[in-house]
Amino acid sequence: MVAWGGYNMVPCGIFHMVVTIAVVAQKGGTGKTTLALTLVVAAEQAGLTAVVLDIDPQATACKWGDRREASTPVVVDAQPARLGRALETAAAEGVDLVVIDTPARLETAALEAARLSSLVVIPCRPLLFDIETVPTSQQIVTLAGGAPVVAVLNATPPRGRRASETRAALSGFGIVVCPYTLGQRAAVGDAVAMGLVAAEFMPSSRAAAEARDVGHWIMQEAGLETRSVKET
Ligand SMILES: Nc1ncnc2c1ncn2[C@@H]1O[C@H](COP(=O)(O)OP(=O)(O)OP(=O)(O)O)[C@@H](O)[C@H]1O
Ligand SMILES: [Mg+2]
Repeated sequence: MVAWGGYNMVPCGIFHMVVTIAVVAQKGGTGKTTLALTLVVAAEQAGLTAVVLDIDPQATACKWGDRREASTPVVVDAQPARLGRALETAAAEGVDLVVIDTPARLETAALEAARLSSLVVIPCRPLLFDIETVPTSQQIVTLAGGAPVVAVLNATPPRGRRASETRAALSGFGIVVCPYTLGQRAAVGDAVAMGLVAAEFMPSSRAAAEARDVGHWIMQEAGLETRSVKET
C-alpha cells in the first residue's frame, strides 16, 4: 500500500518499490525520533536497506547520525518541501524503507510526510496528555489525505496496568495499536547517546527484543517483507 507511488526505474530496468513510513505526533517528546531510528536499524538487521529523512529543525536524528560510527543507516537532513524529491532519489538508489522523522505538531511538515507515506506511526506514552491527542491526530492525518495510522505504546512502565489501559483507551477510539510495546528502558537513552539504538547497544536486553517485535510488526503493516534476520 504505497500511497506515494514509490515505484521507480532502477538501472537494471526493473521496478523498485520504496516503502515510506512517517513517524508523527501532536505532542513533543513522545519518542518519534527514537522510534524512527529503532525502525531503520531493525530494517537493516532484517536485511533491508533503510534511510531516515529528518525533517525536524531540531535535527535530532541527524545529530544521532553524526555520533554514529557505522555508515548505515544513512540519515538525510531533508527539507519538507523537498520530500518528494528525496523519496524519488531513495527509490532510484534501491532503498527499501524510508522512515521520515517529523517535528512535533501535525502541521505542514508532518502532514506532507503523512501524505507521501504508506503508513503513519504515532508513538504514544501511557500518559493522558499523550493519549488524548491521538484520536485528533488520526483525524487530521485522514482529512489531510495521509496514510493509514497506527499507534505504538512507548516508554511504558515495566509493571502495572498503564500499558493495557492505554491500549484499551486507544482501541476504544478505533485506533489500530501495535500489539507489542516499547518499555521505559535505560538502554534506549544510553544507546542514542552513542549513535546506536538499544538493539545494537545491548542486543540481549528486553529493550532490544521489544524493538525487534515492534519493528517487524510495523514493517509488516507497511507492506514490507523482510528478507533475512541478521544476528545482532
Ligand atoms: N522507550 C524509551 N525508554 C527510555 N527512554 C526513552 C524511550 N523512548 C524515548 N525515550 C527518551 O525520551 C526522550 C524523548 O524521545 P525522542 O527524542 O525520541 O522524542 P520525540 O518525540 O522525537 O521528541 P521531539 O518532539 O522533541 O522531536 C529522549 O530522551 C529519549 O531518549
Ligand atoms: Mg524528535
